[in-house]
Amino acid sequence: MTQTLEERIQQRTARFGVVGLGYVGLPLAVEFASAGFAVTGIDLKPEKVAAINAGESYVGDVPTAALRPLVEAGRLRATTDFAAIADCDTVNICVPTPLRKTRDPDMSYIVNACQEIARRLHPDMLIILESTTYPGTTDELVLPMLEAGGWKVGQDFFLCFSPERVDPGNPQFQTRNIPKVVGGVTAECTRLGALLYQQALERVVPVSSTQVAEMVKLLENTFRMINIGLVNEMALMCDRMGINVWEVIEAAATKPFGFMPFYPGPGLGGHCIPVDPFYLSWKTKQAGIEARFIELAGYINGQMPHFVVDKVMRALNEQSRAVKGSRVHVLGVAYKRNIDDVRESPALDILHLLGQLGAAVSYEDPYVAEVELAGRTYRSRPEARQEAHCVVIVTDHTAFDYRRIVEEAPLVVDTRNACKGIDSEKIVRL
Ligand SMILES: NC(=O)c1ccc[n+]([C@@H]2O[C@H](COP(=O)([O-])OP(=O)(O)OC[C@H]3O[C@@H](n4cnc5c(N)ncnc54)[C@H](O)[C@@H]3O)[C@@H](O)[C@H]2O)c1
Repeated sequence: MTQTLEERIQQRTARFGVVGLGYVGLPLAVEFASAGFAVTGIDLKPEKVAAINAGESYVGDVPTAALRPLVEAGRLRATTDFAAIADCDTVNICVPTPLRKTRDPDMSYIVNACQEIARRLHPDMLIILESTTYPGTTDELVLPMLEAGGWKVGQDFFLCFSPERVDPGNPQFQTRNIPKVVGGVTAECTRLGALLYQQALERVVPVSSTQVAEMVKLLENTFRMINIGLVNEMALMCDRMGINVWEVIEAAATKPFGFMPFYPGPGLGGHCIPVDPFYLSWKTKQAGIEARFIELAGYINGQMPHFVVDKVMRALNEQSRAVKGSRVHVLGVAYKRNIDDVRESPALDILHLLGQLGAAVSYEDPYVAEVELAGRTYRSRPEARQEAHCVVIVTDHTAFDYRRIVEEAPLVVDTRNACKGIDSEKIVRL
């Protein structure tokens, strides 16, 4: 007798597919393979597929030591061929959702992935979209594509949205122990989606619809973006008034209720916080509501790289140096501490702006060997720090020895309070 999808999920004999093997998809694939599922990952990039099949991880949060045994045991394999979908019982979609230059959502990755899946949809299949997107995507965009072949959702196949909340580089919270919100198109879709996640993840939070699940993610990321915008504006105000914003935040954070500290910095980076809220504002515009907080925070956060460059200019001026012709060395180009991701990193803007002003720029980052910027390749050159007139701390990797950096450099502009506790007139704090 053939088993139902529910039985296969419960017995972990369901064949688990993941489309998109990046920061989100690869850790998910590893969790389900570790839980005993036979996992097939599909990615367009042959080099990623080859690395996985060779047991090599390219994602910081997935140690090769965790990946390799799963590949060797035949529980995890990768392919570029969408034909594999025909053999999958479940498919999680983890493809990118960037913004176009106009700040409109770029849905092309989701559309391409769904077209491939729709062609191979078969009865009793569960599809879950995990890519961050605007509310309505699952019902309005994905569902019609999957139903085009005549299959009916909730009966022939099942469809959910489940926001991915992974925080790369976070040693405490990873895919397995971050609670997983899931909402289906029908109640049966939600039930099966939740059942699937319960097999591999610690806590599942079912919600009543795909739209609620989509909005949950946007609330979380908008909350962060706006609070960072607020504290960045505080930093701009404190700068004018000669007040140390870091000390203000630290003291405010002693309030045991009603306050949560956020920290200023050189600007937003990464694939989520600078991008996702604009998915929401794009959608609400269609409903006739301007998302004013989002636009304002986006504006203030976008000013921060300019503010940092302004700080560098003023600091050099104090030393009777013009930025033009000065050697400025950037510490850290990843968008946050201890990771290798440079997507949307404010460090790139800072390097570019300083270069435009005529500074001779260099950088070092133990996680990022080279970056492309305006058609030029920059390589990490730690040795250039020794020659620099000014060192700018943009990413506070723990690998840097800040005390030594301050001792050796003539001038340090610190955008992250990385030099907290170091007393030196050479330090200019944000
Ligand atoms: N990185 C994060 O911290 C994070 C956190 C939460 C949510 N998200 C969201 O998760 C989604 C994925 O993000 P990511 O950081 O993993 O992106 P990523 O770029 O690291 O990975 C996406 C992968 O999808 C592949 N891909 C693109 N189009 C494809 C297609 N049509 N078929 C198969 N593979 C395809 C790419 O080659 C890439 O390997 C995005 O919507 C993002 O907003 C990311």
